[in-house]
Amino acid sequence: MSQEDQKRAAAEAALEYIQPGMIVGVGSGSTANHFIEALAASGIDIKGAVASSEASAERLKGHGIQIHDLNTVAELPVYIDGADETNHKLQLIKGGGGSLTREKIVATVSSRFVCIVDESKLVDKLGAFPLPVEVIPMAQSYVSGLLAKLGGRPELRKGFTTDNGNVILDVKGLRMVDPVELEGALNHIPGVVCNGLFARRPADILLVGTQEGVIKLARSPR
Ligand code: 5RP
Repeated sequence: MSQEDQKRAAAEAALEYIQPGMIVGVGSGSTANHFIEALAASGIDIKGAVASSEASAERLKGHGIQIHDLNTVAELPVYIDGADETNHKLQLIKGGGGSLTREKIVATVSSRFVCIVDESKLVDKLGAFPLPVEVIPMAQSYVSGLLAKLGGRPELRKGFTTDNGNVILDVKGLRMVDPVELEGALNHIPGVVCNGLFARRPADILLVGTQEGVIKLARSPR
């Protein structure tokens, strides 16, 4: 099975968590796009979706799925999204597509976060994938300097502006011994809007498309 087929299989497996009448949180990226296609094809009569990026909102609207503003939604039972890396604790690195801030907001609000990946994303230790950090443009130089002091090698994502009007620094070389601690520490740097570690709000369910089919990992209760 190709990587794309594995993504598609994981996305289709996530339909198990969707009930008629729900408002569904929907993430961004190619695996999330497979989920949107599967959702549209399923015919499940959902009430609508909260999207974590403008691109996903457009794709959902293209299928006639109503987009809700998160501020008008009382509760979000489920959030479906991909990841760039996941460990076995279901802690993630996200933001390869640059939508990390909205993704973290929607994931945190949702009662259940179902993460859908192909098998290349499941790793023993997070950190091979450069960590995306969303930064307010005027603080780019200051934040880069601090990240370098922490042992990172930040690189500005060229020609890219987030949906929130900010820039992304992709940071190689950060030690991720304690992802929960690192996520908090990075968020305390003035000018950092959000970083792509999802350790404080990891996924609850991980669906991994593999050569042998989709495997499911569930996070142990907090
Ligand atoms: C976007 C993300 C995506 O979930 C992540 O980059 C994975 O993308 P893909 O499903 O295309 O491999 O975090 O900001």
